[in-house]
Amino acid sequence: MALYSNKVMDHFRNPRNAGVIEDADGVGEVGNAVCGDIMKIYLKIENDVVTDVKFETFGCGSAIASSSMATEMIKGKPLSQVLQLTNKAVTEALDGLPAHKLHCSVLAEEAIRSAVKDYYDRRGIAYDPVQFPGCDGHCEGCMG
Ligand code: FES
Repeated sequence: MALYSNKVMDHFRNPRNAGVIEDADGVGEVGNAVCGDIMKIYLKIENDVVTDVKFETFGCGSAIASSSMATEMIKGKPLSQVLQLTNKAVTEALDGLPAHKLHCSVLAEEAIRSAVKDYYDRRGIAYDPVQFPGCDGHCEGCMG
């Protein structure tokens, strides 16, 4: 069996939503201290709905595929649903990742969460810190 699914290869070779949003409403950046990879997510948000999303990922193919899939999964979704996105859901949508690559999908979950938190912080919107368990500063390079 191939190490990577067709979906992983497709999203790696043809990433969706790659790029930058200059006037983003929220930006999240996280990194993995072990592999050194970095993922940045830009969100445009209107009425609590993600109207646009872009990513920049300096990392492995699995991280790029995870970014691409995760951005597809949150586009057009309300923030309440965006915050429910787990790395497990991203991995399943990619038809799986090898065990030693699961951490790459965790970056996508954490970067999106960090971008939503940045949006709330910029707007002065109150939130329950429990919603952001991954944003306690443990992520290398976390801007949250
Ligand atoms: Fe670190 Fe993929 S090897 S994000």
